[in-house]
Amino acid sequence: MQGVLFDLDGVITDTAKFHFKAWSRLAKEKLNVTLPASFESDLKGISRLDSMNRILKFAKLENKYSADEIDAMAQYKNKLYLNEISKLTQKDILPGIENLLDELAVNKIKLSVASASKNAPFILEKLGLKDQFDAIADPAKVAHGKPAPDIFIEAANKIHVDPGQCVGIEDAKAGVEAIKAAGAIAVGVGSSTDLSEADTVVANTGELTYSVLEQAFRK
Ligand code: BG6
Ligand code: MG
Repeated sequence: MQGVLFDLDGVITDTAKFHFKAWSRLAKEKLNVTLPASFESDLKGISRLDSMNRILKFAKLENKYSADEIDAMAQYKNKLYLNEISKLTQKDILPGIENLLDELAVNKIKLSVASASKNAPFILEKLGLKDQFDAIADPAKVAHGKPAPDIFIEAANKIHVDPGQCVGIEDAKAGVEAIKAAGAIAVGVGSSTDLSEADTVVANTGELTYSVLEQAFRK
């Protein structure tokens, strides 16, 4: 293992609840629909525009709005979301992550962020973690969102490591699929039923250690 490719939302910090809160408010205010709780996991790892389109489809409104109107709604959601994440601090780093980053640095493993979020640099800054990573892949520069492999390939390219020498860490089904499609080893965080395609699954971030990742890589 020469590199580790990190998802951000749900792996480094628990922002899924803020994404869902913002999407729910947008859906209620602008579309007059209530999103079911199950939507929170359906939208995990899915890009902002793809999420917006899934919500429109759920509301049976997919052909009602122009591209500009859809874009404006997605921007409004992001405004609501930014309001929530502006309060993030180092205390919001998920358990075990700081220790894992230290262990990986000691072992000279290159670290790259492979998040679908355009807010990833801002969030890492808020958490005080930006300098711990060698690279952050820019989702605006890749053609296809997760479950396509593009962002993981870009994250591996940015640290000059072959994806086959990398372990990717994900909490989303779409993300695990993306890691596998990139040719890296997938470690899932969460339910082993939801993340059944991962090479190894841990129940929570507290279980992520250098040795767990290394064992997943050698399996
Ligand atoms: C992913 C989240 O990390 O980023 C998704 O799991 C989110 O819920 C996506 O939609 C895009 O994020 P952003 O911050 O660019 O709107
Ligand atoms: Mg995630």
